[in-house]
Amino acid sequence: MSYKVITLKQMDQSGHEYLAQHGVEVITSQCDNEAGWIKEIAENQVDGIFCRVDKITPAMMDASPNLKVIAKQGAGLDNIDIPYATSKKIQVVYSPAGNMQTVAEHATMLLLMCAQRYRYVDHQMRGGNFNVRYTLTGTHDLNGHTIGLIGCGRISQCFAKILVNGFGMKAIGYDPYITPDKLQVPIELKATADEVWQQADYVSLHLQSNDETRHSIGYKQFSMMKPSASFINCARGDLIVEADLIRALEEGKIYGAALDVFEQEPLPLDHPFLTMENVVLTPHMGAATQDSVIRCTTTSCEEIVQVLNGQPVAFPGNKL
Ligand SMILES: NC(=O)c1ccc[n+]([C@@H]2O[C@H](COP(=O)([O-])OP(=O)(O)OC[C@H]3O[C@@H](n4cnc5c(N)ncnc54)[C@H](O)[C@@H]3O)[C@@H](O)[C@H]2O)c1
Repeated sequence: MSYKVITLKQMDQSGHEYLAQHGVEVITSQCDNEAGWIKEIAENQVDGIFCRVDKITPAMMDASPNLKVIAKQGAGLDNIDIPYATSKKIQVVYSPAGNMQTVAEHATMLLLMCAQRYRYVDHQMRGGNFNVRYTLTGTHDLNGHTIGLIGCGRISQCFAKILVNGFGMKAIGYDPYITPDKLQVPIELKATADEVWQQADYVSLHLQSNDETRHSIGYKQFSMMKPSASFINCARGDLIVEADLIRALEEGKIYGAALDVFEQEPLPLDHPFLTMENVVLTPHMGAATQDSVIRCTTTSCEEIVQVLNGQPVAFPGNKL
């Protein structure tokens, strides 16, 4: 029996090869919107959908009665309507272990860029001010400073490992769903998130986006931070109220921010973040190294084959 999987964006060659070896035909979408995908899913009566961050809606799941599996390349399942998939007995799979080190490394880069005021310094040098170092203030070593982690799951712990072991930082964190014995690294867990916002020199978000966490970070939290502190978000843009972050930065409540994710992606070209000197931006590329893409593609394709063969999966995104 041969199966068909549609990939909504280009799939890495490693995935094409793995699926071909296991008798699965891959159809690469020629569309970039829900209506087009529904048509392609229906025309091909696909058994699986392979996605990155594009929204997987009920109408897309209804378009093929053969649909058995939705595979996400990476972590963060907020783009998939999980309850609806579960109600239709469609298995969701993902590959969170494949990109956790990559996102942690990306967050480390953003942290260093904040600590060294990289965006400002780069701008000055390109404008002819090679002597910027003589007037530079507000730059810091990471060593001896405190990272605050909101959410202490996979990525957060990888990040803490780099910062504690590599830079000699102190890590504090808040995660009501984790106990100290589950931590692989020395993060001092606080009883409240407020303690983390107040005590850290840098606060980094590592939460999944869901009904509990969406827009849960705003002016109240930013106002608690030290005025010298910076905020980092490599998790999801809709976890924060962006207007509140802009206000906190403009009022000097916090020193800077580094963001990989945004409420609206792509970030609109008239967005205030784009002109703010104390904000470092990257285009949702925290997990986009080629190494990570290959690892996540391979895992997600292995999981697709497991589901199609009726075998157990290692990384289920829902319970059927
Ligand atoms: N920038 C990128 O390209 C990129 C790539 C991968 C993942 N991500 C994002 O990073 C997020 C985290 O990924 P992960 O693999 O570490 O997930 P994870 O599930 O291992 O960790 C999330 C942690 O948040 C905790 N948590 C939940 N609600 C909380 C709350 N209200 N307060 C504090 N902690 C809470 C959970 O207990 C869990 O330990 C993903 O959900 C995804 O949105 C972004």
